[in-house]
Amino acid sequence: MHVLVIHGPNLNLLGERQPETYGTQTLSEINDFITASAADLGVTVECVQFNSEGAIIDAIQGARDSASAIVINPGAYSHYSHAIADAIASVRIPVVEAHLSNIAAREAFRRTSVTAAACVGYIAGFGPYSYVLALRAALQIQGK
Ligand code: DQA
Repeated sequence: MHVLVIHGPNLNLLGERQPETYGTQTLSEINDFITASAADLGVTVECVQFNSEGAIIDAIQGARDSASAIVINPGAYSHYSHAIADAIASVRIPVVEAHLSNIAAREAFRRTSVTAAACVGYIAGFGPYSYVLALRAALQIQGK
């Protein structure tokens, strides 16, 4: 099984971006953690990051033939991008949303995720481990 992990805008700045909220690990370190955890589960992953909405939509569409599932953290797009939600709803492979922070416990505008509504489900608040939990959920859904 192969899973595409998509990180959205500003997540390339992890490590220096609001460490009190997002922790001190860089995106590269988080990707290493996801990749090692995936290997333990017998899964391969490709981790990508895009700041632009269109690039995220292209990646979701492109995964149709190359991945069995998608794990996505759409960053702030989660809260308003109906275009990304439509892209998620357009692919047959399962999509699981992951957030580092507990968006339910933050500012009012972060408490709604329009993209999560198009996903099978979402996991938030466990730091980098949210991605691993999302990966496990994707495996479970695929019966692996
Ligand atoms: C985030 C939460 C979003 O509200 C925020 O815009 C992000 C990161 C998270 O992983 O906690 O960029 O998606």
